[in-house]
Formats: sequence, structure tokens, C-alpha cells
Amino acid sequence: MTNVLEIKNLKSGYGQVLILNGVSLFVRDNETVGIIGPNGAGKTTLLKTILGYLKPWSGEIVYLGKRIEGMSTEKVVLLGIGYVPERGGILKTLTVRENIELVAGIFKESSEKLRELRKLFPVIDERASQVAGTLSGGEQKILSIVLGLLTAKKLLIMDEPSAGLAPAIRKKFSGLLKTVATELGLSLLIAEQDPSLVADLANTVYVMERGNIMRSGKPEELVRVEVLREHYLGF
Ligand SMILES: Nc1ncnc2c1ncn2[C@@H]1O[C@H](COP(=O)(O)OP(=O)(O)OP(=O)(O)O)[C@@H](O)[C@H]1O
Ligand SMILES: [Mg+2]
Repeated sequence: MTNVLEIKNLKSGYGQVLILNGVSLFVRDNETVGIIGPNGAGKTTLLKTILGYLKPWSGEIVYLGKRIEGMSTEKVVLLGIGYVPERGGILKTLTVRENIELVAGIFKESSEKLRELRKLFPVIDERASQVAGTLSGGEQKILSIVLGLLTAKKLLIMDEPSAGLAPAIRKKFSGLLKTVATELGLSLLIAEQDPSLVADLANTVYVMERGNIMRSGKPEELVRVEVLREHYLGF
């Protein structure tokens, strides 16, 4: 199996403050990888470094065999890495339709992919002429995911995609993401504080704490251990 993304010994941070202290991880073709860990562990910092918002201090980021560390965000996205940020990720003053047309236009997306996404996320059509900033939190998240999917050719990176979604729809949502990834042939890299979505979706899970990967493995085992630690032991 080929690797879509390889991160080797990555160090990154803000100004003089080192946050990621030598992170290594792999995402294989058509694989879903989860990163779980508490507040402040460095999950968002890792994703922002992959996307080129932060320049790494050292280490490698290899996407489809090509070194991309230090590249601008624009270049990284044009290579086909989709990104769904923790917050935002949509143009709030434009309508839903304008958001989609803008992104689909820039990335010259095929109308076929757009048709597929409209079928999977009917809210796009239902809310087409609504100004994106007036959508509910959950609807804004869905729009941000659709925009991420539009730009993703091979890899979609998501930061807390289930945040703001009601627990009742999380289960349905993870099923939907699985379908989308399979239909579009995408690998997913998902950071989540709440391990349950990752447990449903991921083939491999990495546990991050204080800027380091502490453990990695299959979700069944790891997520169970993490949930037990968090809820019963409090650390
Ligand atoms: N812009 C910034 N400037 C300085 N320090 C920052 C900045 N953004 C984040 N940090 C620090 O980096 C560390 C890692 O933060 P990060 O946002 O990567 O954590 P996280 O794992 O995504 O947490 P959460 O689950 O709360 O989203 C934290 O200590 C945080 O305070
Ligand atoms: Mg975060």
C-alpha cells in the first residue's frame, strides 16, 4: 500500500515556542487516520503545519512522494489536500451557492463531483440562497466540509469535524463521511478531542499529548483505553 502522507520527526511551533516535538505519522491510500488527544495537545498545530499556515522548524512532510514542508498554503491546497478548519472555513457574507461556486471555480471541479456532493449533502440545495453566516452551527460545519471535499483530490484533513454537531447526528455523520471517502477515493486525517467519531471511522489512531505521539494502533483498543483513562482515572 502506498502512503498518501508521511510525516517524519516534525517540529513546529509559534514564534520561539516549540509545540510539536518530533511528530511522525503515516496516512495510507484510502485509509482514515484519527489523531486524538486533550486540549492543547498540538493537534491543530500539526494540521496547520501540514497546510503551510505554520513553517516547520525541522522534519519532513511528504505528500504523494513530494516534499511539501514549508510550501505556501495556496500551493498545498492546489496539490489536492482539502482542509476543514476547527472554526470557520466558509465565506460568511456569501450565500451557500456562492461559496460553492467560488471554490468549485477556483479548483475547476467537475460538475460530476459537485452533483455527487449535492446528493450526499442535500442541505446545499435546501439552503442554496441563504447567506452562509446565518446557517446554524451544524449547517456551517457541513458547508465547510463540502468545501473541503471540493478541493480534496486525494486527502481531506479535518479539525474536529464533529464539534457542534448534536450527539444524535454524530453517528449518521460518521457513516456519511465513510461513504464520501470511499466514493471519492479519499484518505482522511481527522483530529478529534472526542474519540467516539474516530472510533467509528478510523483504521489507525494516534494519541497525541504535549506535542508528542504517545501511542498508535487500531481504534478498538486505543480508544477504549483513552476513554477509560479520561472518564475514570481523570488523566
Ligand atoms: N497562535 C498561537 N500562538 C501561540 N501559542 C499557540 C497558538 N495557537 C496554539 N498555541 C498553543 O499551542 C499548544 C497546542 O495547541 P493546539 O491548538 O495545537 O492544541 P489542540 O490539540 O488542537 O487542542 P484543542 O483540542 O483544544 O483544539 C497550546 O498550548 C496552545 O496554547
Ligand atoms: Mg485544536
